[in-house]
Amino acid sequence: MLRAVKGVILAGGTGSRLHPLTRITNKHLLPIYDRPMINYCIEAVVGAGITEIMVVTGGTHAGEFLRLLGNGHEYGIDRLSYGYQERPGGIAEALGLAERFVGDDPVLVMLADNVVERSIRPMVDAFRSDPHGARILLTPVEEDAHLRHLGVPVFGEDGRITAIVEKPEHPPSHFGVTGIYCYDAGVFGVIPTLETSGRGELEITDVNNHYIAEGLMGYDVLEGFWGDAGESIDAYYVVNDFVRLHGVNRAGADRVEDDCTDLTGADRAG
Ligand code: DAU
Repeated sequence: MLRAVKGVILAGGTGSRLHPLTRITNKHLLPIYDRPMINYCIEAVVGAGITEIMVVTGGTHAGEFLRLLGNGHEYGIDRLSYGYQERPGGIAEALGLAERFVGDDPVLVMLADNVVERSIRPMVDAFRSDPHGARILLTPVEEDAHLRHLGVPVFGEDGRITAIVEKPEHPPSHFGVTGIYCYDAGVFGVIPTLETSGRGELEITDVNNHYIAEGLMGYDVLEGFWGDAGESIDAYYVVNDFVRLHGVNRAGADRVEDDCTDLTGADRAG
């Protein structure tokens, strides 16, 4: 029998790249077209067949998530839990707060500012059938300026990932690591071994590099549009435009041509 996969949605952090908008609310509650940003992430996770979800957030607007999502049933969630991150100590720290919720199960982690055109179900199903180690989702990215804001994989001759470099000055490939990750429950043993990075955070890239070093990292390449709506104000509007024009989280092969591609190279303020 296939193992149930739990979902952890990370919606903490400061949202400083979208100041002053995020001085008055949490970034993931800002509108993308006709819904708050986090709704698209919830839809993606539920669309992957995951109905036990924890939302981790922080800051002074945490209560608004309860008002928006309630018990989650309206969104197809059976069991919705909430975690509170006391300070923005990084993506890996936020994930660590879900340890007891996840227990021994495999987990899909998604950053709540990520928006995808196509269903992430194929990646989650692949992990469900072999829920060991880690599996990440890559997206092709042409512009070096964009890659400098992302985790970027280095590939060996056999096509396997040999390392991930976070926000590289000189990107080693033309793929970005999306904020969509599958891990076995061993991830909660990795997080306490991490050292705080230069920006004072526990980095998810260090978690991924741990799995790579152990030879336990797989990956898929996402088809269709991917956006990180929290990356810059320009990226926020690229995502808004795409969602308004095409909709997202589509399951079938009805992919539309991305006519926003000319916008994705827009200045990214960092
Ligand atoms: O979006 C993809 C990128 O996300 C990856 O390519 C990078 O490897 C990865 O490090 C991450 O980079 P960002 O610079 O975009 O991470 P950011 O600090 O913006 O955090 C992304 C989300 O993670 C944010 O929307 C909410 C959540 N988060 C972040 C921090 C720092 C938390 O829940 N708690 C936190 O303390």
